[in-house]
Amino acid sequence: MDNWSFYNPTHIEFCPEGLDRASSGINYQRIALITTPGFTKRGVVTHMKRALGDRLATVCDTVQPNPDIDAIDNTAERLRHVDPDCLIGLGGGSSLDTAKALARILTQPEEATLSGHLRAGLSLENERALPVITIPTTAGTGAEVTPFATVWDFRERKKHSLTGNDLFPIKAILDPTLTLCLPESLTISSGLDAISHAFESVWNKNANPVSIGLATQSLAISLKTLPELKNRSHDRANRSAMMSASLLAGMAISQTRTALAHSISYPLTLGFDLPHGIACSFALPEILKYNAEVDDGRLKQLAQSLGHADTLVLADALNRLLLNLNVPRFFSTYGLKEEQILSLVHNMLTPGRADNNMRPANVSDVCTIVRDAFQCL
Ligand SMILES: [Fe+2]
Repeated sequence: MDNWSFYNPTHIEFCPEGLDRASSGINYQRIALITTPGFTKRGVVTHMKRALGDRLATVCDTVQPNPDIDAIDNTAERLRHVDPDCLIGLGGGSSLDTAKALARILTQPEEATLSGHLRAGLSLENERALPVITIPTTAGTGAEVTPFATVWDFRERKKHSLTGNDLFPIKAILDPTLTLCLPESLTISSGLDAISHAFESVWNKNANPVSIGLATQSLAISLKTLPELKNRSHDRANRSAMMSASLLAGMAISQTRTALAHSISYPLTLGFDLPHGIACSFALPEILKYNAEVDDGRLKQLAQSLGHADTLVLADALNRLLLNLNVPRFFSTYGLKEEQILSLVHNMLTPGRADNNMRPANVSDVCTIVRDAFQCL
């Protein structure tokens, strides 16, 4: 870790009046708001219209969870008539990722489509995207400060990642009051996503002292706060703390990307719709133990910074956290049994994720990790 760089140009504003703040200091005149139908129903879109006035050219409130590339193309076709000069992504990770994907494709010639590019194996990397402003309404994805967008091709049953410095949002507006009404299941799954990001950035080949510092601070907050939020979901201080933890973890993975836990998660989300934060967290304790065998000191240091004697004690604490947050209930709700999960292990070594892990893993290693993880739930 003596040869590294850190680059993250996103301007961060953390404030409890985020929606009003969205209108200040933004010099764009044809803004498109990208969000879900729920924010229109709950009046948040009306609030944004009031704040942005004539500068809000259009609202696309059709984002669905795990955004599909054909649906993104439909939205892009609509937006080409509006010719926006800036996109605001308002919502959870799906809204923010959709805004980033649209920002990329809208700078391409009119006939270009996201599905056409991705199905032809063209990555669309290093393109010049439209500016994106992010307003997260969950605490977990970190997408508000990362140069990545995850999109899904449900027709071909594939996940795609867009990446590049042009996808860094120009501004992230974090208003923890937007998370006050999140239901318990979403609070837990998004919070576990933040926890996964922090761990994944530490046991990562691309880790550096700054990313490890951010991740350690993130975990110090989230491991304490998330269980408290389960019982006191309207506690403003905890909501604010969790949004900070998510931001810090997002900053960390903006440099390292994620690793083995996310690699394991994708087939579970694609195949069974298991929420992302659950799919990428259930194996964390086993991955921690797996990586501890080649620890260069960073995992022990992390454990001790978090108040544990060593990595095995931290892994035990993490297991208890998953049980306390009712992670097994998610698996039973989605009807997932051990044999179904193990049937997917051959697809769990996602290139660009699994190979970031500090210890190489093969299918047999993943099979052991996943089986042991499931049996601990
Ligand atoms: Fe994630």
